[in-house]
Amino acid sequence: MTAVLETRALTKTFTLHGRGGLQLPVFSGIDLSVQPGECLALTGHSGSGKSSLLRCLYGNYGASSGEVRIRHNGAWVSLPDAAPREVYDVRRRTLGYVSQFLRVIPRVSTLDIVADPLRRLGVSPEQARAQAILWLTRLNLQAHLWHLPPATFSGGEQQRVNIAHGMIAASPVLLLDEPTASLDADNRRVVVELIQAARAKGAAIVGIFHDDEVRDAVATRCLDVEHFRTPI
Ligand SMILES: Nc1ncnc2c1ncn2[C@@H]1O[C@H](COP(=O)(O)OP(=O)(O)OP(=O)(O)O)[C@@H](O)[C@H]1O
Ligand SMILES: [Mg+2]
Repeated sequence: MTAVLETRALTKTFTLHGRGGLQLPVFSGIDLSVQPGECLALTGHSGSGKSSLLRCLYGNYGASSGEVRIRHNGAWVSLPDAAPREVYDVRRRTLGYVSQFLRVIPRVSTLDIVADPLRRLGVSPEQARAQAILWLTRLNLQAHLWHLPPATFSGGEQQRVNIAHGMIAASPVLLLDEPTASLDADNRRVVVELIQAARAKGAAIVGIFHDDEVRDAVATRCLDVEHFRTPI
């Protein structure tokens, strides 16, 4: 089995332009490689750079140096070098991301938010909504909420909408930033099962899981981001 997501000598330093260009080094020299069916858990203390690494893997943050590449349509794509249209296509077809907090779009219903990734893949509105209902039901989101925008939902309800939105397209590569942080034990268990099922179907997953129990249940390997802290 070959890797579908790799970094080579990946280094991230933030430049704080509002502070006279102050340099804030976070990590350096990260080599990682993830294959289908693997779940790599990022570990390390708060502030060690786990979310920043995940954002580099998603192409939200550029790399200060080093490489990030992903298998897309049978070829390697270098995310930091890719044109915006290509990054969009990678995200649409290959790379899913569950951020810790839902980015709420005003006035769009929960059902439409969750169905959207399938609609972008060309699935009919009826089929996309039917799939969205299955995901929301599985994640125990009460039916009376489906037609409302999630802006006023509780943290845990928003997180479940976010998970449904991030996982519905069954992306070959999936990034998860603390997907269970706001969930109760029952819903945590559901999300663990969904992650395990995605992995069993061949998804390559990189995730941050603060809860040790969740991490033990889903991760096949760990990478401690602390080991790559840039010496100051
Ligand atoms: N956009 C940004 N601009 C400047 N500094 C940033 C930015 N994003 C993150 N940082 C800094 O980078 C460091 C790593 O942050 P990051 O969010 O990656 O940590 P983390 O390991 O995910 O922490 P936590 O466990 O608390 O979520 C922190 O010191 C943070 O202040
Ligand atoms: Mg974080």
